[in-house]
Amino acid sequence: MPRIAVIPGDGIGVEVMKEARRVLAALDDTETLDLELVDWDLGAERYLRDGVAITEEEFRALADDHDAVFLGALGDPRVPGMEHIKAILLGLRFKLDLYVNFRPCVLPLARLSPLTGIQKPFRIDIFRENTEGLYTGLGGSFKTGTPDEIAIEKDLHTRKGVERIIRAAFEYAKLRGRGRVTLVDKANVQRFVGGLWRKVFEEVGEAYPRISQDSMYVDAMAMDLVRRPDHYEVLVTSNLFGDIISDLAAVVTGGLGLAPSANIHPGQYALFEPVHGSAPDIAGQGLANPIGAIRCVSLMLEYFGYEHLGDRIEEGVLASIENGITTPDLVGGKSSTEEVGRWIASYVESASA
Ligand code: NAD
Ligand code: IPM
Ligand code: MN
Repeated sequence: MPRIAVIPGDGIGVEVMKEARRVLAALDDTETLDLELVDWDLGAERYLRDGVAITEEEFRALADDHDAVFLGALGDPRVPGMEHIKAILLGLRFKLDLYVNFRPCVLPLARLSPLTGIQKPFRIDIFRENTEGLYTGLGGSFKTGTPDEIAIEKDLHTRKGVERIIRAAFEYAKLRGRGRVTLVDKANVQRFVGGLWRKVFEEVGEAYPRISQDSMYVDAMAMDLVRRPDHYEVLVTSNLFGDIISDLAAVVTGGLGLAPSANIHPGQYALFEPVHGSAPDIAGQGLANPIGAIRCVSLMLEYFGYEHLGDRIEEGVLASIENGITTPDLVGGKSSTEEVGRWIASYVESASA
């Protein structure tokens, strides 16, 4: 039976995870789900208390005795150096080589778009490279603390790393019948890195002649995601660009609080987390939108072979929004985090009956 480590984490992570678990429990009441959830108490509190974010043994236990992690969010103003984020979130991504960061941004209803001119719902599926780029921590500082201080952050890209994420994007497009894959880069300035991505994109793309393929500079893509986001289908990009455009794509498809993500090493391990962070500005007030976390349950169920239940959660999400049961980050929303969670949980429960 698959074992999933549940880490609510910090801030609104704790609040949204409570609702995500409620929805999963509601499904579990009516279906026999062969999943075991294991609670893990990791986050800023633990780091501040013990001075260690996660021990080597705990890390090994997460990796070896579980099939996936389900994480709420990490981040606390009392830990400005983000030590626990680096150890846990980035630690899992790097050490378990979770190279696909899949971020589906799905607009449920046209009227939910903050942009004018959107006539119907659409989705943008982002494939963010998750183990390289500007995230490796390679670099350093020289003459630190002096007026001559120098800082270097290395932007690392390997052919293997670029190839596998591009292939994942094309395979997904093929499997899901999506007609277009767009590479997002900055090849006009990053000659070497951009050159590698473009070359590999073209090579890999040859095996997918029925899928149309193009590339966009990331600055133009940022603009176009605001101007006509429904023009795009699958985007593939490097780690930092993927981080930035996924917040952007999330907000143009209804809100940052709606977007889930799956960090995956196909066939080996997965880490599910909403795209948003711990949102200290709204934590503890019942304002957090739990849908990003609830949609992670949907991705997780799909990953473990329960596609139909994933679809049922998506239906519940859509129904809650159609019925005006939304948190205040969505226009007109007046419901609390818990009210939204309870509503979707009872929807999926009665839909199962
Ligand atoms: P954030 O995503 O936490 O918040 C950005 C803005 O969006 C805030 O105004 C917040 O109130 C709003 N928001 C976010 N999620 C929401 C939701 N579910 N419902 C309603 N509104 C929501 O980004 P930030 O403020 O830059 O980061 C806060 C902390 O979270 C930082 O420590 C950051 O490093 C961390 N972070 C963690 C993760 C993660 O654990 N996966 C992801 C992003 C940021
Ligand atoms: C995300 C987050 C993380 C990232 C941070 C918290 C390290 O913003 O998952 O999008 O930059 O990848
Ligand atoms: Mn981010």
